[in-house]
Amino acid sequence: MSADSEHWADYYAVTVERPAWRTVRLAIDKFRREDEAAVGPDARDANPPARRFAVDLGCGAGRDTRELLRAGWRVLAVDREPAARTTLETAVEADLRAHLQIRIQDLATVRVPRCDLVNASLCLPFLAPAAFHPTWERIIAAIGPGARFAAMLFGDHDESASDPEMTCLPPDRVRTELAGFEVEHWSVEEDDRPTALGEPHHFHLVEFVARRLG
Ligand SMILES: C[S@@+](CC[C@H](N)C(=O)[O-])C[C@H]1O[C@@H](n2cnc3c(N)ncnc32)[C@H](O)[C@@H]1O
Repeated sequence: MSADSEHWADYYAVTVERPAWRTVRLAIDKFRREDEAAVGPDARDANPPARRFAVDLGCGAGRDTRELLRAGWRVLAVDREPAARTTLETAVEADLRAHLQIRIQDLATVRVPRCDLVNASLCLPFLAPAAFHPTWERIIAAIGPGARFAAMLFGDHDESASDPEMTCLPPDRVRTELAGFEVEHWSVEEDDRPTALGEPHHFHLVEFVARRLG
């Protein structure tokens, strides 16, 4: 499933108005509950908490980035494709743009700043193993105690697992890599269905939301 720029531009056109993935929605909700518990729901209007900060890796057309912005977050959105920037800049609501920074850079080299949430939906598997593992380490290093990692990965039964330029880990290995986190949401699904662009594909999707322990 390795893809070129034209493929991704088509993908963005199809997905730009799609809703955010449940992983990012779950993560947003967990932080909202924590913030409300800290100040009380009635105190929010009088003394709103500082904006939380998320890094959305492989943001694509920005379905998750926009959900975060609408929920009151500040977002650094990262993708290798210049079309991600143009799509996202056009799609994001004007009053939210001030809270969005877009960086066009390869995930294999990007510095991941300390943040409340690293979100990575369907992007890390597109790194070859030699780049995947150091990138994973940089992500983990950016997530301090109480911060979260939300991700959607391809498992080792995914059709893409035969592509040496991609990394599709067995679910058990993903769990092992999350040592030091409380896994708050975990789902593994395997089925045959079309991709967003209508191509048949055998999916093995591993998704999680995990909170870094202190
Ligand atoms: C399947 S799309 C997912 C986009 C978005 N997260 C979503 O869920 O709609 C994968 C995205 O990862 C980006 N991507 C893949 N490999 C990348 C890399 N090495 N560096 C940066 N972005 C990459 C692609 O450009 C694409 O936008």
